[in-house]
Amino acid sequence: METYQVNQNGYYGEFGGAYVPEILHRCVEELRINYRKVIDDPSFQQEFHQLLKDYVGRPSPLYLAKRLSELYGCKIYLKREDLNHTGAHKINNAIGQILLAKRMGKSRIIAETGAGQHGVATATVCALMNLECVVYMGKTDVERQHANVQKMEMLGARVVPVTSGNMTLKDATNEAIRDWCCHPADTYYVIGSTVGPHPYPDMVARLQSVISQEIKKQLLEQEGRDYPDYLMACVGGGSNAAGTIYHYLDDLRVKIVLAEAGGLGITSGKSAATIHLGKKGVIHGSQTLVMQNEDGQIEEPYSISAGLDYPGIGPMHANLAKTRRAQVFAINDDEALDAAFLLTRLEGIIPALESAHALGALPKMKFKPNDVVVLTVSGRGDKDMETYIKYKNQYSL
Ligand SMILES: Cc1ncc(COP(=O)(O)O)c(C=O)c1O
Repeated sequence: METYQVNQNGYYGEFGGAYVPEILHRCVEELRINYRKVIDDPSFQQEFHQLLKDYVGRPSPLYLAKRLSELYGCKIYLKREDLNHTGAHKINNAIGQILLAKRMGKSRIIAETGAGQHGVATATVCALMNLECVVYMGKTDVERQHANVQKMEMLGARVVPVTSGNMTLKDATNEAIRDWCCHPADTYYVIGSTVGPHPYPDMVARLQSVISQEIKKQLLEQEGRDYPDYLMACVGGGSNAAGTIYHYLDDLRVKIVLAEAGGLGITSGKSAATIHLGKKGVIHGSQTLVMQNEDGQIEEPYSISAGLDYPGIGPMHANLAKTRRAQVFAINDDEALDAAFLLTRLEGIIPALESAHALGALPKMKFKPNDVVVLTVSGRGDKDMETYIKYKNQYSL
């Protein structure tokens, strides 16, 4: 049977692999050899799931959004990752990877962050487990997500503002990789999405797969069948989407809809719609779709949403798009803002700007009345209040 899961060499179709500098080869190999052994170990699973339950507050609810459903003429369930401790899905992965780091004997944790949610999640788990934590964050993001910077600092992390490139997620990732190259022996790099060299994309997808594991159980209870007709999620690097679709990847009854950031529009020159605009290339250790110019130089992405502002995409998602297993929409800033205000007024839920891109794909779909749709609300909007307030007058309903 055709599978959309990773193969033994770390590829999803033609995408994936591990393209790393010589100095990191041993670290990445060590991880590749150990990650399945560790995370499949029953004692790891027990510790991981206990923390997901008692510390994160899982399972996250699967909420039937009645007024939203009425509007779009189908049954829309929201998977409420916004209700997790620290406000997004990122904590699932941070707990898993930091437990793994401890078992591999690493004493220092580094991370990159865009919207700050992965940085906050990593700093939180490092506080919990008493580990040193350094978070790299582009200076532009430090400014637009400063509430999350204050949280990371209060949690005891050192936040390093990065001033190269356009000072966003790509640049923070470059800096984190540089740090890792200088401290390969004691440092564990917690990547926040399904990106980077193999085994990161597969490892992050597995750690986030708790989302679809819960969806199966919750749908069975609420709908009498364990699969939906549609799964919808936003994609930055792809981790909340990977978690949402993981257990349904090879179940062709389930249609997958992904929303990437169109920015000001895919032809505007200010966009982060990598699947629409990218060509095959290598970024941060993985062969995937990359926004690049004719010389192979990476083009600076743009999105109103810091968490989607990335010129690459997870290799799993590049393959889903290439094989047409997933339908992919580019949702522009204004469409995401509209969708955020609409959800807030209809359901009393203020979503993260990233999640609002998934909601922004709803008006582009044609549903049948009996369709069951599960859309992941990857995070809450607290960190985006300044942006929302700025646009409020334009978007008053
Ligand atoms: C709330 C939220 N959703 C989505 C994303 C995008 O990341 P990913 O595609 O890995 O889920 C981010 C990234 O920072 C985020 O903070």
